Amino acid sequence: MMPTLPLPADPLDRLKGATVLVTGGAGLIGSRLCAQLRTLGARPLAVCTLDAYPPHVYRDLFGIDPADEDVIEGDIRDADLMARTVARCDYVIHAAALADVAACTRNPRAAIDTNITGTQVLLDAVAATDRVQRLAYVSSASVYGDGNPEDTHNPDLLPLRQLLESVYGRIAPQFHEGLPLRPVSVYANTKAWGERQTALTLGAVGTSYTVVRYFSVYGDPQIVKPGSHSWVVAWFAARAEAGLPLHLNGGGHQVRDLVHVDDIAQATLRTLVSPQAHTEILNIGTGTPTRVRDVADLVSTHYPGTRLVETPMPPGDPLGGYASTRRMQTMLGWTPSITLSDGVARYVAWLRKHPAAVPDWMSAPTNSA
Ligand SMILES: NC(=O)c1ccc[n+]([C@@H]2O[C@H](COP(=O)([O-])OP(=O)(O)OC[C@H]3O[C@@H](n4cnc5c(N)ncnc54)[C@H](O)[C@@H]3O)[C@@H](O)[C@H]2O)c1
Repeated sequence: MMPTLPLPADPLDRLKGATVLVTGGAGLIGSRLCAQLRTLGARPLAVCTLDAYPPHVYRDLFGIDPADEDVIEGDIRDADLMARTVARCDYVIHAAALADVAACTRNPRAAIDTNITGTQVLLDAVAATDRVQRLAYVSSASVYGDGNPEDTHNPDLLPLRQLLESVYGRIAPQFHEGLPLRPVSVYANTKAWGERQTALTLGAVGTSYTVVRYFSVYGDPQIVKPGSHSWVVAWFAARAEAGLPLHLNGGGHQVRDLVHVDDIAQATLRTLVSPQAHTEILNIGTGTPTRVRDVADLVSTHYPGTRLVETPMPPGDPLGGYASTRRMQTMLGWTPSITLSDGVARYVAWLRKHPAAVPDWMSAPTNSA
């Protein structure tokens, strides 16, 4: 009889018993990271201002218990708090940010305060201790901006590409990690800075770090923020649920790579323990391009009769592209598993059970056209 070989241990087992600081840990992605860490037997410590949503959203939709001693209501710009908390942690995931592209455009100084000053305070705290085994810096695909055909394609083929684009419209670029960064918004610019600053600050002291560039994250309990144009699945589903038309900014030709929040959290935790991910930059996406207009069509299948209306392109909204996932797959030995149609169906089912996820302001006359 053939001897049975032991199955390789799950790399995530390394997180069992670890203490992990998750900045922004009560937000959409942070709360999912903390939940998955707890399931793995790790202890997440969330530091979060809890002010990106109304209190009932954190409590009732994100499941945050204000009495939980591991949810620390605090600010990453508080150097004492960061020093004290980081000193207790084996790993750090830096997910706190002013995470709304439109809010950063409206108020660049607020974006700089959190995404730049706050990031530096955290990095200084991590650099000052030798306990932290790795920091994952949460960046965004927005750092690629609209991409540039010349980056990804043979220049000799450019005339052919231009001809095809004149017939079929824009061909979505695939973003790979080696591309030059071309942020087209304040938000993206702060993320691009954070990536380099993480490498400079932690590289100088030999602390391990990985940059994860999330593509477009969706999935329950994501809820929209007023005045925002991000988070297209949540926007379309909430508007359809409220009986409102769906707005296709710029005609909805922007391309996104939509990746479910459960998959995002999985990838990020694997990043903490992957030996090859040391000092790397990893796209986290599905590798599938989806036009915003196609998301509207998909959501509409759950709400027959929903109208689509073309609206102007907001400033800072990138035309976008989709992820090259080769590096992510190689370094994490992993690939996302939730398809967009399943993820949207799950989101719609969740929304129907949680009417409070459709904000009142959405039906106000200024928003309901
Ligand atoms: N949602 C996406 O599609 C997406 C895509 C790419 C990258 N990201 C990044 O992922 C991270 C998490 O985003 P999210 O979608 O969960 O956003 P979110 O707004 O739901 O969560 C962010 C949390 O950070 C907190 N926060 C803000 N400033 C803080 C500060 N100074 N100190 C402590 N906490 C602070 C907020 O209160 C909020 O709860 C962000 O860094 C964001 O830029 C998100």
